[in-house]
Amino acid sequence: MIPPALLDRVLFTEEQVNTRVAEVAAEISARYRGKDLKLIGVLKGSIYFLTHLSRHLTIPVKIDILAISSFSARWQSPGLVRIEKDLDEPIEGQDVLIIEDIVDTGLTLRYLLQTLAGRGPNSIAICTLLDRTSKRLVQLPVEYRCFEIDDSFVVGCGLDHRQLYRNLPYIAALRRPE
Ligand code: PRP
Repeated sequence: MIPPALLDRVLFTEEQVNTRVAEVAAEISARYRGKDLKLIGVLKGSIYFLTHLSRHLTIPVKIDILAISSFSARWQSPGLVRIEKDLDEPIEGQDVLIIEDIVDTGLTLRYLLQTLAGRGPNSIAICTLLDRTSKRLVQLPVEYRCFEIDDSFVVGCGLDHRQLYRNLPYIAALRRPE
């Protein structure tokens, strides 16, 4: 529960999130029909969305998880991304979908796309819960997005404020933290 003094407004209710995630999952299931799909989650935020989305997929899926350090937004060192925990298995010859909770500048995903593309997957695409294209610094092919958002500071469905509120089943905008 977000303290009332911190909450600005609910952007997407639990029902809206559920409906939209199911719609995007149906698109993905249709595109990858007849194939096995590898979902790659990026710790920590994407784990909630990856789980939610995967439950709606009707094709066989495997998952793998990456952990990264990203200084792109906070430290204003564009593109400085490092893998802290790599994938457990190779992705060569596989159809890969990178799952994100939010894309802002695109610098994190540009790095991940380049790195993972170098491992020889059959295909590689991006799926994000939230897309904030107004913050984009680099061109990026985002094949699947649930919601486009404005410049709000958002929490819920995996997104945090000081590591809190990731578990909320809706997406809310906070009053800007001091
Ligand atoms: C978020 C998100 C992406 C990255 C996107 O992660 O999950 O990985 O920021 O930002 P960019 O497009 O500007 O590169 P965050 O650093 O908040 O980590 P978290 O998932 O552990 O909360």
